[in-house]
Amino acid sequence: MSLSRKAVLSVAGNRLVTALVSKYGMKLGASRFVAGETLDEAIEAVKKLNAEGLLVTLDHLGESVSNREDALAATQAVIDIYDAIEKHGVRSNVSVKLTQLGLDIDPDFCLENMDRITSKAKEMNNFVRIDMEDSPRVQMTIDIFNTLVERYGKEHIGLVIQSYLYRSHGDVAELGKRKINLRIVKGAYKEPPEVAFPDKKDVDENYVKLVKMHLNNGSYTAIATHDEQIIDHLKTWLKENQIPNNLYEFQMLFGVRSGLQKKLVSEGYKVRVYTPYGKDWYSYFTRRIAERPANALFVIKNLFQK
Ligand code: FDA
Repeated sequence: MSLSRKAVLSVAGNRLVTALVSKYGMKLGASRFVAGETLDEAIEAVKKLNAEGLLVTLDHLGESVSNREDALAATQAVIDIYDAIEKHGVRSNVSVKLTQLGLDIDPDFCLENMDRITSKAKEMNNFVRIDMEDSPRVQMTIDIFNTLVERYGKEHIGLVIQSYLYRSHGDVAELGKRKINLRIVKGAYKEPPEVAFPDKKDVDENYVKLVKMHLNNGSYTAIATHDEQIIDHLKTWLKENQIPNNLYEFQMLFGVRSGLQKKLVSEGYKVRVYTPYGKDWYSYFTRRIAERPANALFVIKNLFQK
């Protein structure tokens, strides 16, 4: 991990910084990466993205929940998203984080919450993707995912794999045996060299390797990156290898490389925008700054604008 990324993630953990950014952050710039604080605002954002030919995955922000009440409320919030998607006829699925649904309280309780969410996704003929969080939670996340696939089948649920982890090659091989729908990302958390490649070059190389491996196996792959070099390389590879276009989609984050998102749509690719909303945007926002410290300049600029 780069020094600047480490520094941003450390500063972000500071209490004073947390308090200040939480109070003024939306104005300072979080609204560039977050579609609003309410579901209604998020649905309006989805309508705009859909009108531009972009698909969406909605994320009700929140993570590291430490009491059952909050986890149950978060579960209900996700269920409400499916009803709103249906009501407004928008093209979107949903992404969730297990620590928001009680993973750190009790994995069985989290599984119960995911049971309700997955059965709702199935009932609405929609889809839920489980985001991947930091490395101590990876195995628990995969275990819960596997149980849900046993209970509900694999059509309505997918998982995320991070190319910065050494273990991911083995995980993709294993999940590929059941042709699981995977989103492949580089990974956004601060991880030690014991579990993750410290050099970005290795993370990038592994990224391309994992995407090709999963597609060669005939498994649906969400190529989630803003890395134009990797995207260009994969576009050529997809053509040369005649990978059918119903086997993959590109995914990017709301507010990041919007021009590139539209360019891919104009070239005929399926593109989905990960669109977070909600009051609990602080951790998500600081990870976006850490990925690209130039984003901090954007925040500082907003400080001086009326
Ligand atoms: P990289 O960081 O190398 O950036 C490549 C280029 O993209 C940069 O040079 C810049 O131009 C642009 N860029 C990247 N980040 C930017 C930013 N924040 N602002 C502006 N420009 C930026 N992670 C995780 O651990 N678990 C998860 O479940 C998910 N889920 C997820 C879903 C989707 C749809 C995406 C796109 C990403 C995630 N991630 C994630 C985050 C992911 O792990 C990673 O941190 C970011 O995507 C940044 O890495 P890139 O692949 O874009 O490449």
